[in-house]
Amino acid sequence: MTLSLPSRAAATIVKPLPPRLLTVHGGNAEMRWEAMAGQGFTVPTDRFFVRNHTRSPQLDANTWRLRLFGTGLRGSPTRDDAVEFDYGDLRAMPAEETAALLECAGNGRRFFASQQAHPAPGVSWGLGAVGVARWRGVRLSTVLRHAGLTDDAVDVQPEGLDPDFVADGANLGRVRRPIPIAKALDDVLLAYEMNGETLPVDHGFPVRVVVPGWIGISSIKWVGPIEVSATPLSSPWNTRFYRMFGPGHPVDGRLVTTAVVKSAFELPWDVRVPNGEQLLIPGRSWSGNGPIRTVDISTDDGATWRPADLDPADEGGVWQRWTALWRPPRPGRWALRARATDVTGAGQPDQARPNALGYLFDGVVRHPVTVD
Ligand code: MTE
Repeated sequence: MTLSLPSRAAATIVKPLPPRLLTVHGGNAEMRWEAMAGQGFTVPTDRFFVRNHTRSPQLDANTWRLRLFGTGLRGSPTRDDAVEFDYGDLRAMPAEETAALLECAGNGRRFFASQQAHPAPGVSWGLGAVGVARWRGVRLSTVLRHAGLTDDAVDVQPEGLDPDFVADGANLGRVRRPIPIAKALDDVLLAYEMNGETLPVDHGFPVRVVVPGWIGISSIKWVGPIEVSATPLSSPWNTRFYRMFGPGHPVDGRLVTTAVVKSAFELPWDVRVPNGEQLLIPGRSWSGNGPIRTVDISTDDGATWRPADLDPADEGGVWQRWTALWRPPRPGRWALRARATDVTGAGQPDQARPNALGYLFDGVVRHPVTVD
């Protein structure tokens, strides 16, 4: 008898994964950039990337509880004696909606291999492990204050309720990563809606953390316990992973927090276009540091650059749509390049800084095009 086994992704991600919208990498799914052409500012949920360490758990909002504990709260409640809030409690608190960008620190990892001969282990993302959604929920600061936050708190560590993560035979426990108190009190959201609908299972139902501007691992999905501590916290996700390791980096690695500058064309990879026609090429650029200021395009292997037309509607936003005109001069293989700078002056180098785990690829990507 032949057993028909579901693909790994089908077993770990609940939503449909149509190949025209998403590319599956094991238990993860990457947005196809051509699926954003003609779309609005946000990424529709059906094509929003999914990054799961294990699998999406199906939780029940009726029995779900947010449980805050630790030495940074009044009375130092323990994990077993935590301050609890249920789904209704959170929904009853003042709500806020924000368009925030979520990006995996490993987005673009495959270009370390294909463009720089520096392969790194991990999910072989192209540029589609990024998205902007409208998140609605309650500020983490509001919940922390309700829970009895003290002036002594230094770190806040949300934990996911998905299965424990096992790496190389070692159980590393629940996915969790500390957020410094200053950031936790600034703009972090506990979100229960995404793009105007109840938060979908794969994106953290019933409640997830959204840490604007910071790499995706900070935005813990399916949050349950939250430790609030008067002493610094650590987890494998801020010691072993999500640090810049390798030659040229400090031995204990630099902690990865904010996302870097990137640009993507809203075109299929290896697209074929007709010769002799004027093309209007769309794309987007973004940065965890703040708004994008300039975007330049090159169609001649980086010899000359010209400004792209920035969509004024996105000025000051978490990403920037743009277009560029190009009339291919003759048939053949071409590479399109886009590079942006952000409000802090950070830009995109020709070569990203190699690091052992393949994080923060900010290099200029060469997008292949065939002109027939
Ligand atoms: N939270 C939990 N509990 N488990 C996870 O595997 N993955 C993190 C983060 N939060 C993860 C998690 C990573 S690495 C990223 S990039 C984002 O969730 C991805 O969010 P998304 O799947 O909604 O796009």
